[in-house]
Amino acid sequence: MSESKDPPIRPRRNFYGRIRGKTLRASQKAFLEEDLGRFSPGPVSWEENPERVPLDLQALFGKRPVWLEIGFGGGEHMVHQATLNPDVGIIGCEPFINGVAMLLGKIRRGGAGPDRLRVHPGDVRDLFDVLPDAGIARAFLLYPDPWPKKKHHRRRFVTPEHLEPLSRVMCPGAVLRVATDIPDYVRQTLEQVPRHGFEWLARGPADWRVPWDDWQPTRYERKALREGRRPHYLTFRRL
Ligand SMILES: C[S@@+](CC[C@H](N)C(=O)[O-])C[C@H]1O[C@@H](n2cnc3c(N)ncnc32)[C@H](O)[C@@H]1O
Repeated sequence: MSESKDPPIRPRRNFYGRIRGKTLRASQKAFLEEDLGRFSPGPVSWEENPERVPLDLQALFGKRPVWLEIGFGGGEHMVHQATLNPDVGIIGCEPFINGVAMLLGKIRRGGAGPDRLRVHPGDVRDLFDVLPDAGIARAFLLYPDPWPKKKHHRRRFVTPEHLEPLSRVMCPGAVLRVATDIPDYVRQTLEQVPRHGFEWLARGPADWRVPWDDWQPTRYERKALREGRRPHYLTFRRL
């Protein structure tokens, strides 16, 4: 008798961030309508992919190593990394549709195509469901939402709900970069990330005070600096 597997049960996922901001300009609407489809990584949402069939990263990017940027904001860092690293494929993920439109505008101006870049305009938890084990060689979590109130700390990215699947999709030796300007976020990151199969690579203060050599400041970093907050750059390796 053939074994029939029960379909996966859709988890309840609250999303507390913003999905829409200011009214999109006509050009931004055009980027979304005309370009977003080309940059799709394949079926990610539960509606499109209720069986949670994993994405075929090799079909998307060939033999290129695959990097992931979680919450890319306006996309400046993602486009910068794509320009610096033509031999890498990058999947970016961002539920804030105005940010997605900004990224697509930058891609149009910058030239990198869907053979190297893919965009999931939604929650990274849905993307994690359909990423194969150990497929990601580098991940960026840059200025994640700080959720400053103690009662909201469980909404932060650096919680088991996110770190368990992140750890599963990253390959041994893969690098995870976290940037934040919030000291309590540093505390929670250093406490939680190593519990999920990562080691912190810092040897001395310069390792968290000085940006990475290939760094591109993001919109949130500029805001933090304007407001007098100090960035921290944390580098982890997946064991
Ligand atoms: C503080 S902003 C930083 C944006 C950008 N990385 C930067 O440094 O300018 C945090 C971003 O994470 C995104 N975000 C929040 N929750 C997310 C999730 N579950 N999946 C993907 N992105 C998420 C938000 O929409 C927001 O754009």
